[in-house]
Amino acid sequence: TILIMKAGAQSKVNYDESKVEPYTLPELLRSAGGQEIKTVKEWESIRRTEIVRLFEEEVYGKIPAEAQLKPTIEILEKEGEAFHGKAVRQQIALDFERNGQSLRVHLLVYLPAGQDNPPVFVGYNFYGNASITEDENILLSPSWVPNKKEFGITENQITDGARGQRAHRWPVEKIIDAGFGLAAIYYGDVDPDRDDFSDGIHPLFYEEGQTKPGPSEWGAISAWAWGASRALDYLKSEPATANSKYILFGHSRLGKTSLWGGALDKRWDLVIANNSGCGGVAISRRKIGETVEAINTSFPHWFADRFKKYNDQENKMPVDQHMLVALIAPRPVYISSAVEDRWADPVGEYLGAYYASPAYQLYGLETPASDQQPSVSKPIHTSIGYHLRPGGHDVTDYDWEQFIAFSRKHLKP
Ligand code: GCU
Repeated sequence: TILIMKAGAQSKVNYDESKVEPYTLPELLRSAGGQEIKTVKEWESIRRTEIVRLFEEEVYGKIPAEAQLKPTIEILEKEGEAFHGKAVRQQIALDFERNGQSLRVHLLVYLPAGQDNPPVFVGYNFYGNASITEDENILLSPSWVPNKKEFGITENQITDGARGQRAHRWPVEKIIDAGFGLAAIYYGDVDPDRDDFSDGIHPLFYEEGQTKPGPSEWGAISAWAWGASRALDYLKSEPATANSKYILFGHSRLGKTSLWGGALDKRWDLVIANNSGCGGVAISRRKIGETVEAINTSFPHWFADRFKKYNDQENKMPVDQHMLVALIAPRPVYISSAVEDRWADPVGEYLGAYYASPAYQLYGLETPASDQQPSVSKPIHTSIGYHLRPGGHDVTDYDWEQFIAFSRKHLKP
């Protein structure tokens, strides 16, 4: 965890299943006008559109239409040899400019050598691209980063001390050996993770005199979702990856981001959300672990301002998180939980995945059979995939083994 809970917010945390008050989820397959949704066509043209709009206006905030901005591309490294020649490394800068302001987003890409159009995992990281592996050739991003002494970060700047610090979360060599590419982005390049709307991508789109997004305009999660799609624009423009399949992966706050990004941009072929919890896949109405109020208090910049009106008012929300997963249908989606990650409500994470099933079933796809959370280390790999592993809030080799197996199964050429 990067940010510590503000005092008070954690005082009434509930972890007791028996204290979950009965709730009714908003109906996935009934339109606001009361129409029952029975076909893919009705889902796509009526209900799906409605649900996207609700998440935009009430939860994550709307991305400005002008944000489909084209960056200037600078190739910082064209063809570096990596992992003893098993991979080719590329580093690219995407430079966005508007309103006299600019933003540079660095992309680190590893592709298995000699393989055309490999499937590619695209994922944000918390401490810069250089933190994901020991490779010394990775450029350090100058963007703001929260201090972390253990990583040598004391002045909000990434230093050499951060190199490889998060390698355990990114088994890059195994990913390459499995025939996948990996594109990495530091999330703070797109929007530094602090309650400050003067930095990151937002100011490029302000009207004269505006200092922060409007009440239902984009917070940080929407900004990160936007940034991932801009990386995808670039990857799709490159011959080596133009016809690749793309997997959007994220852990925790970045798992919330991958779900929302996957919902907004149908070019993501598969979506993975690890330990995504509240505001990710966990059902908000359960109020186990982190609640809407807690998340809005600790991280006021993540969501649209309007989301705050649901603090302790979850039953008034026109959506719940199963509807977010449903927006990804018919594309495969994988949800992963960890036993000790109770703050993220593992049971609620399973239910968020499970209750998205009716949308997948409209497409004739196989979905999890039971509303009972599977036991530990018993993964499900239907169109909606899920596993619960032992341990805490993290990304482990076991998680990646499942992500790779699930992607192989569902992205067969
Ligand atoms: C905090 C936050 C979670 C988030 C997590 C993370 O614990 O409350 O919502 O998922 O940080 O991003 O690691």
